[in-house]
Amino acid sequence: MNYRHSFHAGNFADVLKHIVLVAALGAMQKKDAGLFVLDAFAGCGVYDLHSEQAARSPEFLEGINKIWDAKAALPAAIKNYLNVLDEATEGKERFYPGSPFFVGQMLRDQDRAVFNELHPLEKLELDKNLSDLQTRNGKRRVKTTQIDGYLAIKANLPPPERRGLIIIDPPFEIAGEFERMALALQQGLKRFATGVFMLWHADKDENAVRKYRQAIKSIGKEALIIDLRIAKEDGTTGLKANGLTIINPPFGLEAQIEATKSVICKLLGKDESAKMVIKLLNS
Ligand SMILES: C[S@@+](CC[C@H](N)C(=O)[O-])C[C@H]1O[C@@H](n2cnc3c(N)ncnc32)[C@H](O)[C@@H]1O
Repeated sequence: MNYRHSFHAGNFADVLKHIVLVAALGAMQKKDAGLFVLDAFAGCGVYDLHSEQAARSPEFLEGINKIWDAKAALPAAIKNYLNVLDEATEGKERFYPGSPFFVGQMLRDQDRAVFNELHPLEKLELDKNLSDLQTRNGKRRVKTTQIDGYLAIKANLPPPERRGLIIIDPPFEIAGEFERMALALQQGLKRFATGVFMLWHADKDENAVRKYRQAIKSIGKEALIIDLRIAKEDGTTGLKANGLTIINPPFGLEAQIEATKSVICKLLGKDESAKMVIKLLNS
């Protein structure tokens, strides 16, 4: 396990993922009933954008920095994301929250979350960071675990709450991640058919993404697809495109994200190939 998210925190992929995460959770919280969140590949919770790792290739400059610097009026989903981000980091712009901090900040008293992270150092930091966040916001119904993310999905489903969001955001450092994600989704849905599953993927190989999306379609559940390309492939290593798949998308999510499309492309796009595609499968 070589992947460390601190090299990438706050990049364009994090921005898109966390805008959608805040909008999805917000939409699910329109109902009072308590819900469960499982973050199967959680990371360490909050990232220092001035750290040595972040400084080495400051991807946040092409991500959250562009949103922070935006002069244009922002759509509601981006404003909500920035509000939660500010609350989670107490407005300190040198820090960027990871998914556990967005979720940890949004949890209500009746909600519960499990954050799972396999890397021992990331897990240690996650525990420390979450305990700081909890001291500030007083939310106690949070647990961390340290097992394989795909096992964590099996171990935690179905949740007794019978309403839940499952975040699957693996590092894509070893081959076969698309296959593992599609299988985990299939198995997860067998245990928890009404769960909202949010899966992130890197988009570096058109054929692999096409096969993965066919596998998702064949599962037969309604799926919201959100793809963002910020630049054309030019042979350099940096990520240029990524995608999200939300199974059983909560009511209103599609419209909220649709309304961010032109602003996201304008702020994060780097050349004329920048585009965001939003589609519903099996609706
Ligand atoms: C893309 S990062 C997660 C970022 C986080 N979800 C966020 O949005 O802030 C993937 C994380 O998965 C962890 N990881 C790697 N292999 C894992 C495994 N098999 N099970 C669980 N976590 C794993 C990595 O250490 C890394 O922190």
